[in-house]
Formats: sequence, structure tokens, C-alpha cells
Amino acid sequence: MQDKRRIEEMFSNMRLYEARNVIFSFGQNLVWRRYLIREAEGRLLDVATGEGNVLKLHRKGMGVGVDISLGMLRRAPKGLLLVRGDAENLPIKDGSFDSVSIAFGLRNVPDKLAALREFNRVLKPGGKVLILEMKIGDRLTSWLALPYVALVMPALAPLFGGSFGDYVYLFRSILNFPGRREMERLFRASGFMMERVYYFHIGSTYLFVGRKV
Ligand SMILES: C[S@@+](CC[C@H](N)C(=O)[O-])C[C@H]1O[C@@H](n2cnc3c(N)ncnc32)[C@H](O)[C@@H]1O
Repeated sequence: MQDKRRIEEMFSNMRLYEARNVIFSFGQNLVWRRYLIREAEGRLLDVATGEGNVLKLHRKGMGVGVDISLGMLRRAPKGLLLVRGDAENLPIKDGSFDSVSIAFGLRNVPDKLAALREFNRVLKPGGKVLILEMKIGDRLTSWLALPYVALVMPALAPLFGGSFGDYVYLFRSILNFPGRREMERLFRASGFMMERVYYFHIGSTYLFVGRKV
């Protein structure tokens, strides 16, 4: 399911989105987002911001969130600066941000290179890109998470207001997400240099930190 309209619909109709993230990650999603925010500098554009869970951690008035789903944006806390838009074609002026982040969002974007080029375009010279994402199969230990993500999460999702199908999609998108080597290639192709990579949760979650060159 890489069709944008269906992805937008899926997120717009999602109930208890953040509660389920907290349950299924044992609260670790909150910690990973804090690592991302610690790396953010200056004015931050948070792409695929959803309910604003990253943006609300950044300094007040110093960030803007973009998301394709109006349903998700409507559930964000009041007072955040939010814009509806697509990661592959951001409604943002060139060179207007110091950092661009995307948390658990890039795996939903069909053309990842186009999105990264957009992140580069909206960043000031020397700006930072921060990508937080889940990936199974790159690090050997991450395979240990496979039964949990492929079987346990889809089976339990309906108990917490989710749908089995949404979690099968989640599992497939995690499996198909580029590994570190491919991300490094995408970074180079879009004008970024990889500065560092954080691994969390037996290597099943990454934070890629890059710099506009
Ligand atoms: C798993 S949620 C992550 C939300 C938020 N970043 C967080 O950490 O809670 C993925 C988000 O990506 C958004 N999304 C999917 N495709 C997108 C696209 N092409 N452009 C912008 N946002 C997109 C969805 O609407 C959804 O809000």
C-alpha cells in the first residue's frame, strides 16, 4: 500500500495513535524522540509531524509541522504552527530552516529521494537533517524483533483500537525501509553528509543525523 491517498486515509482514521505507540514500544518512542530533539538546531521543520509529538518537544515558536493528513493535524495540541503538505513537495520556501526532522514518517513516503531533496532545499546552508525510523533486517539483532512486529503487534492491535491491516502495513514498511548503507547513498544523492547514526532497541530503530553540504 504505497498509494498516498490510502496512507493519508489510514492515518486520518487512526484512533488512539500515540497511546498505541507507547504501549507497543514500551514507552521507548518517547525516549527516541527526545534524542532527535536534542540534535535539532534553531528553527525546525518537522515533516510528517502527525499529532505534533516531535514538534511539541521543541522550543516554542521555533518550529513548524507539515503533514499530509488533516485528521492527524487536527489532533495536534493547540498553539503549534502546522501546515498541510506532502514530504515530496513541501509548501515551504527555500533555505528557511536550520533543521528538518521526520520521525516514523519517511517509510510512508513512496519517493524517499524526492523527499530528501526537498529537505535539502528548505534547509539553510549547513542545516541539519534528522531521520528517526524503524528498520528490521539491517542489524543482525534486529531480527529478534521480527515475531513481535510481524505477529504480536497485528494480533493485539484490535484490542487497543487499531486494525490488523494497519499493523501488517506497518510491519512491511519497516522491513522495506532502506538500511544504513542505502540511507548513506540517498543522503549523498540529495546533498547531505551522514554525521552519525544512533541505534536503539536491539538495532530495530535508527536516528540518522545528516548535514547539508
Ligand atoms: C507514524 S506517523 C508519525 C507521526 C509523528 N512524526 C510521530 O512521531 O508521532 C506517520 C505520519 O506520516 C504522515 N505522512 C505519510 N505520508 C506523508 C507524506 N507523503 N507527506 C507528509 N506526511 C506524510 C502521516 O499522515 C502520519 O501523520
